[in-house]
Amino acid sequence: MDDLNDTKGFPLTAKIIDGKAVAARLREELATEVAAFIQQTSVTPHLAAVLVGADPASAIYVRNKQRACEKAGIKSTLHKLSAETTQDALLSLVQRLNDDADVHGILVQLPLPKQIDETAILDAVVSAKDVDAFHPANVGLIVQGRPRFLPCTPAGIQQLLIDSGTIVAGSHVVVLGRSEIVGKPMALLLMQKGPAANATVTVCHSRTQNLADITRTADILIAAIGSAKFVTADMVKPGAVVIDVGTNRVDEKLVGDVDFGPVSGIASAITPVPGGVGPMTIAMLLRNTLTAARLSVH
Ligand code: GUN
Repeated sequence: MDDLNDTKGFPLTAKIIDGKAVAARLREELATEVAAFIQQTSVTPHLAAVLVGADPASAIYVRNKQRACEKAGIKSTLHKLSAETTQDALLSLVQRLNDDADVHGILVQLPLPKQIDETAILDAVVSAKDVDAFHPANVGLIVQGRPRFLPCTPAGIQQLLIDSGTIVAGSHVVVLGRSEIVGKPMALLLMQKGPAANATVTVCHSRTQNLADITRTADILIAAIGSAKFVTADMVKPGAVVIDVGTNRVDEKLVGDVDFGPVSGIASAITPVPGGVGPMTIAMLLRNTLTAARLSVH
């Protein structure tokens, strides 16, 4: 008998972790905090989003972020540049937003067109307005366990782990993917002390050998590898909690990194795509924007 398919003692159908609902609750709480902040300071938190080119997925993400800002009482402005924009033009826009005292957070939507040096642009965003937490100074603070801004997607995942009652401390978490946006900061947050942390963390990536042997040892498996349905049921330990960060477009549909149907039959809890991690990223961006506004008045 194949041990991997032995689900005795585990629920056969995973609990669905509803990121949309958790994010909606966080956004309501945030709206209350924003209102109190405005009343105390007469300052309205303001997020400036920069969108370069006409990538439809990026346009949708930015629109969702702006809508979420408005609902939370955060001012949002959109700066749209053509796909042919030069590095210098984009740098001067970033500089203008850095210097604008009315702007508290700056978000440059990724990816950027080929002619743009992405690192140079992200480094140019002044660290006090870097609500994505991409700037080396902010990454350094995260590494040292004293974050100024939380990396949005990893912090959103921590909130989902807390909300779903998942025991993280002492657990073995396997992070699939080592990107600067998700995999790397996710591993950093989970290995630190604090809520939804204190984990034993393994980071796997495209060069990892015997990948499935490692993922099968995960109590919590976080898939951020950018490949549709990459995680199959044979890669998951029965009863594991599975977090799917994938946003792959297949035939116009959003598909996660996890083969949801079969894996939901073996995991104890799982996030859907869409409606899992995505809405949490936006909620955390709003939190960082309020943090940035608070920093500006201190
Ligand atoms: N593109 C995909 N994810 C993100 C994100 O979290 N922030 C920004 N700025 N761009 C992205």
